[in-house]
Amino acid sequence: MPKVRVAIVGVGNCASALVQGVHYYASVSEDEQVPGVMHVKFGSYHIGDIEFVAAFDVNRRKIGKDLADAIFIEPNNTVKFTDVPRTGVIVKPGPILDGVASHMRKSFMPYEEPIEPVNIVEELKEAKADVVVNFLPVGSERATAYYANAAIRAKAAFVNCIPVFIASDPSWAKKFEDAGLPVLGDDVKSQIGATILHRAIVRLLHMRGVIIEETYQLNVGGDTDFRNMLAEERLVSKRISKTKAVTSLLPYGGELEEKGRIRIGPSDYIPFLRNKKIAYIYVRGRKFGDIPVKIDVKLEVVDSPNSAGVVIDAIRAAKIALDRGMKGAIIAPSAYFFKHPPRQAPSDEMAREWVEMFIKSTYN
Ligand SMILES: NC(=O)c1ccc[n+]([C@@H]2O[C@H](COP(=O)([O-])OP(=O)(O)OC[C@H]3O[C@@H](n4cnc5c(N)ncnc54)[C@H](O)[C@@H]3O)[C@@H](O)[C@H]2O)c1
Repeated sequence: MPKVRVAIVGVGNCASALVQGVHYYASVSEDEQVPGVMHVKFGSYHIGDIEFVAAFDVNRRKIGKDLADAIFIEPNNTVKFTDVPRTGVIVKPGPILDGVASHMRKSFMPYEEPIEPVNIVEELKEAKADVVVNFLPVGSERATAYYANAAIRAKAAFVNCIPVFIASDPSWAKKFEDAGLPVLGDDVKSQIGATILHRAIVRLLHMRGVIIEETYQLNVGGDTDFRNMLAEERLVSKRISKTKAVTSLLPYGGELEEKGRIRIGPSDYIPFLRNKKIAYIYVRGRKFGDIPVKIDVKLEVVDSPNSAGVVIDAIRAAKIALDRGMKGAIIAPSAYFFKHPPRQAPSDEMAREWVEMFIKSTYN
């Protein structure tokens, strides 16, 4: 069976959890239950068929290191759940563009002369990358566009894990379509994260006839993702992505937004939390007799491993789409694996169903 050749953009905490996870589960048997992964064998691809062939970052301490070592270099601070043997993939310098906000220079330690960025298209071609996975910091609009274009020129599929709109932007979807390539995204939906939990609560209340009047979701964490998100101007699409993931479930979701009765997003950076993320979800609604009902929930998770299983599935979905010659935005896996897909499914159960149909080749 051919491998799924993956290039990583941004060797941060999410990349760390992904690389560790692929190694950790590489040889599990097909009937084993792997938490956070839909199937050990997704279509014809086993988790162990994922092979990392290129990695790009801008941190001078990570550049030049084997990927297996770079994933454990600070400021990365997610949990180490396995040792990873040498991969033979050396982290190479990519263009910095808007990846590093001014308040992040100390953390991300971007390279300076004499280090020069490599030619990304050439690197992707040489590595024969099938799939490019984008793990850049939130707000990296120009850098994401750069890597999406590079994927197109190198004839690779693009899996966009961050809230810059690519798969869900029709003009970008068209670019991939014209190039005959698949694109999946945007903004990965964690296994058990604030988004999926908030959606479950809102859907339950809506299904039981409660009228939702106001809701918020406040998130705090102590890693570079949260530190980067202290810059409100980098958060525009993050807030849209997280908010739409909830309001899209309600026929009157747009009204809640217009009336300012919904607030969702990252709220603070608390260094000692490290890669732990805490989400506070509040929903107030009106039930029979106009009697109020209120739900307050606190969720505590280690953030990056929370996304890795989902990305393992998304990577394999992208490769299947590539194998089948599918092009443009790939609807079913985007709806299940991402917060801001080109088309939202009416429910997560339905999106899951769509992915099962996609695997069996009966749904795009
Ligand atoms: N559960 C989750 O962790 C989750 C869920 C949804 C979305 N995301 C998103 O995934 C992305 C990655 O998250 P993370 O926790 O790994 O972040 P991180 O801060 O740990 O990693 C970002 C990496 O990108 C590198 N970088 C910065 N500019 C670059 C450039 N121009 N080119 C190449 N590399 C560059 C940094 O040096 C760093 O290694 C973030 O945008 C995050 O919001 C994560």
